[in-house]
Amino acid sequence: MPPAAAVVGRSIMKAFRHLATQDLHTRRVEEAYRVVVECVTAVDPAMRLYMFGSTAVYGVHEKGSDVDFVALSETDVEDGKGEDAATQVAKGLQAEFLGKLAKVVRQKHFSWNVEEVRRTRVPVIRVKGGGGVDFDITANRRNGVRNSALLRAYFEQDPPCRWLSMGVKRWSKRVGLNASVVGGSITSYGFNLMVVYYLLQRGALQFIPPTAIDVAKVAPVPPYLPLEPPQNDGVELGDQVLDFLQFYMHEFDAAHHVVSLSRPGITTKEQLNWTKDAEDRARMNGEKINYQWCIEDPYELNLNVGRNVTPLKRDFLRKHMDKARETALLTST
Ligand code: GTP
Ligand code: MG
Ligand code: MG
Repeated sequence: MPPAAAVVGRSIMKAFRHLATQDLHTRRVEEAYRVVVECVTAVDPAMRLYMFGSTAVYGVHEKGSDVDFVALSETDVEDGKGEDAATQVAKGLQAEFLGKLAKVVRQKHFSWNVEEVRRTRVPVIRVKGGGGVDFDITANRRNGVRNSALLRAYFEQDPPCRWLSMGVKRWSKRVGLNASVVGGSITSYGFNLMVVYYLLQRGALQFIPPTAIDVAKVAPVPPYLPLEPPQNDGVELGDQVLDFLQFYMHEFDAAHHVVSLSRPGITTKEQLNWTKDAEDRARMNGEKINYQWCIEDPYELNLNVGRNVTPLKRDFLRKHMDKARETALLTST
């Protein structure tokens, strides 16, 4: 028997009690924003800087979370619903700009660790800065800004749902399912898509067409969205967490269905041609693409955010979800 909702909710609230004494205001990362803007301007004064990722999605900055930045040209912003180019040429140009940017960052902040990552699907520079704020910088890609704005628009419909998302993210990192830890396979972004899909299936949120999100209408520094403590001593939160686990363990048909925010209702693997056959053939940067646990990216064409979930990792996911009911997302032990 899993514990009662009230017990689960209270346990999760306790795990986040440090947030009550923390300044969660997004102004805490504005300093980092200014520093990066200065470097970007030195390379190309016409480029604009946007913040995305968790700070944008939640409208708060949690200590320890990295900050995601992207440098966009004026045209990228004006054509704010445009598709991102996925060609090698585009990737090369992005890497070139980021190379120059990395040089400037190193010159201006010689004690920082600046790493250029080229082998990933998207070229990125990883900066481990002073003051405990780490950040990633990409170039000329709107999709991160758009997917973060989409997730935020969903959480704005029901701001307390951010607790479910934060609880799931914390748990995924601690049990090693999150791609940010060694052996993990689903990014925080992927877990957020799962959270919102679950809420949509339950009718707790209204569907938003991804095409509605326009970068030209998104603020470069995300506005603060105060995070109130869960209502009713966490009873609803506990209920939601147990129901989320129930949904993915027993209702979501992982063999045939896809977690998707691209269209309302059910999306099948068949529909996307994410089949056994495609799985046998598909490769990305030489690595196998799995269609075991499917999460459709709302903006990238034909991209499974769950592509690294092998059959073994899918079994881990199920086992950890099963345990999470008893441990209140690993907060009670
Ligand atoms: P934390 O950094 O863990 O606090 O969470 P986060 O909400 O910032 O999520 P994460 O760092 O995983 O993702 C930030 C952004 O990176 C997302 O908005 C996506 O644009 C991008 N991203 C992360 N993972 C993936 C992925 O698997 N596929 C794609 N297409 N984009 C991803
Ligand atoms: Mg992040
Ligand atoms: Mg990041």
